[in-house]
Amino acid sequence: MKAIAQAYSNIALIKYWGKRESRLNLPAVGSISLTLAGMKTVSQVHFREDLDHDHLLLNGKEALPPETARVSKFLNIVREASRLQLFAEIKSHNNFPTGAGLASSASAFASLALAASQAAGLKLSPAQLSILARRGSGSAARSLFGGFVEMKIGKKKDGSDCYAVQLQDENYWDIHLLIAITSESKKDVGSTSGMDHTARTSPYYREWVTTSPADLKEMRQAIGNKNFHKLGELAEFSCLKMHAVAMSAYPGLLYWNAASIECIHTIRELRRQGCEVYFTIDAGPQVKAICLPAGLEAVKSALENTRGVLRVISSGLGGNAALLERID
Ligand code: DP6
Repeated sequence: MKAIAQAYSNIALIKYWGKRESRLNLPAVGSISLTLAGMKTVSQVHFREDLDHDHLLLNGKEALPPETARVSKFLNIVREASRLQLFAEIKSHNNFPTGAGLASSASAFASLALAASQAAGLKLSPAQLSILARRGSGSAARSLFGGFVEMKIGKKKDGSDCYAVQLQDENYWDIHLLIAITSESKKDVGSTSGMDHTARTSPYYREWVTTSPADLKEMRQAIGNKNFHKLGELAEFSCLKMHAVAMSAYPGLLYWNAASIECIHTIRELRRQGCEVYFTIDAGPQVKAICLPAGLEAVKSALENTRGVLRVISSGLGGNAALLERID
């Protein structure tokens, strides 16, 4: 009735932005990500006879009502599948600062999918776990797996072919990520509503969707050939394309601040000087630099010295989500 599981966060090299169906949370495009060892969530789910509602603690603090409601809705899927009729006490801890506007829904829902399904006695395959995590958050479907991961768009209406698969594990290629924190405040427009708004109002949205398969194909090849230059160029391309389509919504969405743009220039200047480093940015102002071990120190210090950067978090590649404990 109780289980504890951990999952790492991830960062998309080829971005997911837009849904083809929102109830089952089916993406309109596939995506490819790196799993990050430096950012992890540990979740404990305990189904109890003595509760009359779900109770969520985030980093030791009582969660806000909308946060609890989102987790309850997710647990309803597990309750329905297992025919369990108990409410749960959920405790989730991140090892990275959550106030930093860093995505935590990926590692949160991946760890919750594993902990809740185990606590409810469900025996799910990796693909089924990824499908379950997807219902919580699209990017969470990828966090079940370590290393290099692809989220399949799928074709079926019920979403049964829409899950993530591992392309390569975390030991395949030593790639590092440096995350430049440029703001500690919470973002105004979350990913879910941002992508919905983009799909409804951007004149470029259709092109964003139709050009995605080619990006995915090239990225798969770049990873397969360990072509870092190509991987980096494609990551910047997908990132800028996603932000361009969001900016072209009505009214336009702008996730960057001045320091985000300073970081882009720092990274491109480093590249001009011969350091192989590329950037990517999600639905927020933090900039993630992708580099090889040789460039790590130079990139870290250049980002730390960039105007507006508060601090820099460093991460290598992380592994699969894992069950830590289970008590019947
Ligand atoms: C910009 O997975 O947070 O980080 O499925 O609505 O929960 P929901 O969205 P979410 O979106 C992530 C968007 C992104 C790009 C990416 O991670 O692929």
